[in-house]
Amino acid sequence: MKSFKLLILLLFMITWSHAQVIYSPSQQIRVKFALNGNGEPTYEVSYKKRQVIKSSKLGLELNGANQLNSQFTITKIDSTQHDSTWEPVWGEVKSIRNHYNELTVTLLQKATDRSIIIRFRLFNDGVGFRYEFPKQKTLQHMIVKEELTQFALAGDHKTFWIPGDYETNEYVYSTSELSEISPTLRSASADEISTRAVIANGVQTPLMMKSADGLYINIHEAALVNYSAMHLVLDKQQLVLNAHLVPDARGNKAYLQTPASTPWRTVLVSDKATDLIASKTILNLNEPTAIENTSWIKPTKYVGIWWEMHVGTGTWNYSDESNLPLKGTKWNELKPNGRHAANTQNTKRYIDFAAQHGFDGVLIEGWNVGWEDWFGNWKEDVFDFVTPYPDFNVKELQQYAASKNVKLIMHHETSGSVTNYERRMDEAYTFMKEHGYDAVKTGYVGRIVPRGEYHDGQWMVNHYNRVAEKTAQYKIMLDAHEPVRPTGLHRTYPNWLASEAARGNEFNAWSIGNPPEHETILPFTRLMGGPMDYTPGIFEIKMDYYVTQRPFNNQSPNGFQVHTTLAKQLALYVTMYSPLQMAADLPEAYEKRMDAFQFIKDIAVDWDDTKILEAEPGDYLTIARKAKGKNEWFIGSISDENSRTARAILNFLEPKKKYVATLYLDAANAHWKDNPMAYSIRSVLVDNTTQLNLTIAPGGGAAICIKEASAADLKTYKRYK
Ligand code: NOJ
Ligand code: CA
Repeated sequence: MKSFKLLILLLFMITWSHAQVIYSPSQQIRVKFALNGNGEPTYEVSYKKRQVIKSSKLGLELNGANQLNSQFTITKIDSTQHDSTWEPVWGEVKSIRNHYNELTVTLLQKATDRSIIIRFRLFNDGVGFRYEFPKQKTLQHMIVKEELTQFALAGDHKTFWIPGDYETNEYVYSTSELSEISPTLRSASADEISTRAVIANGVQTPLMMKSADGLYINIHEAALVNYSAMHLVLDKQQLVLNAHLVPDARGNKAYLQTPASTPWRTVLVSDKATDLIASKTILNLNEPTAIENTSWIKPTKYVGIWWEMHVGTGTWNYSDESNLPLKGTKWNELKPNGRHAANTQNTKRYIDFAAQHGFDGVLIEGWNVGWEDWFGNWKEDVFDFVTPYPDFNVKELQQYAASKNVKLIMHHETSGSVTNYERRMDEAYTFMKEHGYDAVKTGYVGRIVPRGEYHDGQWMVNHYNRVAEKTAQYKIMLDAHEPVRPTGLHRTYPNWLASEAARGNEFNAWSIGNPPEHETILPFTRLMGGPMDYTPGIFEIKMDYYVTQRPFNNQSPNGFQVHTTLAKQLALYVTMYSPLQMAADLPEAYEKRMDAFQFIKDIAVDWDDTKILEAEPGDYLTIARKAKGKNEWFIGSISDENSRTARAILNFLEPKKKYVATLYLDAANAHWKDNPMAYSIRSVLVDNTTQLNLTIAPGGGAAICIKEASAADLKTYKRYK
């Protein structure tokens, strides 16, 4: 007996010194941690016995030739299991299971007497790991020069990528083999007012890949707090992705004080694309919220004074003067340009429209002084966030909105001048609360002040998180435009309803826009980290429509358009998950097509359940969601530039019940380019045995609203065939 125990101990010590193996609760994902000959930490990941990440190095480089990546010995190993369930304040599902096996490896670098911990969590759909730095005399302050984490891929996968850029994520996705990525190298010079800073061979996360043998692999991070964003640089020979942290003005990557930890690095993997986008692992790796009372946080459907500026029929600015200082300008004495959209009368029109059609909020952009000279100047004093233009009556609108039971949504465009915003935040939020606003859309267009900082660096990451925290203190909900891409922090800050952080629908108004496949890729990339304020619902698809109404743009058609059919714009309310959804088009565009608008009026923004029915990145997506607290389901199905037949088996409906399904479909001859606004609507009876076959046009979609049938409905509608 004794010798048996000794043998076990001996075996354990041998494995300990060489390798540690841990499995996901399902046993299908396996991570092997090992120190190689030089005491370098390494890990590898496999899924159902197939390699996902080959042996890859771990570690960090600190300033002063200080490496935390070798000469380590293992001093302690712990493994634990966790299985709990929690309820998000809002979400795609009512409750979330947090189920993982954890391995914690404590490492000592003898020569420097420094100790670090590498913690792995294995879920059934992926792996998270991070570095932790306990408080210790030999490691108090850290300047991170680079993180040395590697992801050595097992093949030259099909990859959906955007260039690794410190400043922006608003790109069209490219699809290629990994070895074929070709980000255009473009570094803004020190004094250039540009928002591009692309790294050679760099790509951004969430990075979505598909292996030749059908594995879906996604690399990203969770809980980006007090650190800079991780981009990835490809070693094309080895097919190794190397972490590349966004630098600050001095070239440093992060400043930490122990105890500290990095964000989680995540590798999600599945042989089913549908399971990959249903993953809650990134959310689970974030901290629970500390906000005790969350009753003021409300998923929101809104309209706004917004699209008219993007299509060019209205302006954010009040006058056509330029180079006006924020202080000293007598705004009352300026000559109005006659096209300023955020005026009291127009705002009332939107409030009326919102009230009439059951929207929660109205966003108003261009209400505050400073827009004459807001863009591309890299100047410090741009907006003060409390002074309205002379034609925007804050008090009157507060009363008017309240009388119609509609909430006004504040807009804080900082134009990248973040020091200015930081100084004025408290005053701005106090102003909001005094005037009945409890949601804010922030914006960071242009280069950052402090000059030399990047949108995705540690300084800005801390800023975005500070805004989330401070708005929470004021009981204000947040929608951030142009921030770093999300990493699941909405678990910690549920008042942070959505972010932009990708190329939104707005690009279709004034540029070559977003190709038809764009919305089939975003759920596998950007949306893995959190909800997006994509602003769907554009009905007037071709921008040439506005040419004659554009008083100041050139009068010739530009050919810009939304690259979807109208029915696909409806489907996006289901496929692009967000608790904050805009009906982005002009009221007059909806008034002309009230039958199709009904779907946007009906759609829920909070859900009990979500079923990903079909999915293939870059090609198609069909999702069904059950409205929170109601026996109502909504289905959205979208296609790329190809037509297809989508299938939705309604076996999730309650048995023995009859429902009315209203189908908003592409018309038979619809096409995103040739005939985008042709749709058809019909209502039919369905039950849990129904299989819907939906014909989707090229660049098209289908949107379906399913409600329990009344006795009258049973007589009125026919069974689906
Ligand atoms: C870019 C944002 O994405 C857009 O929504 C906003 O209207 C403009 N900036 C102006 O702030
Ligand atoms: Ca495609």
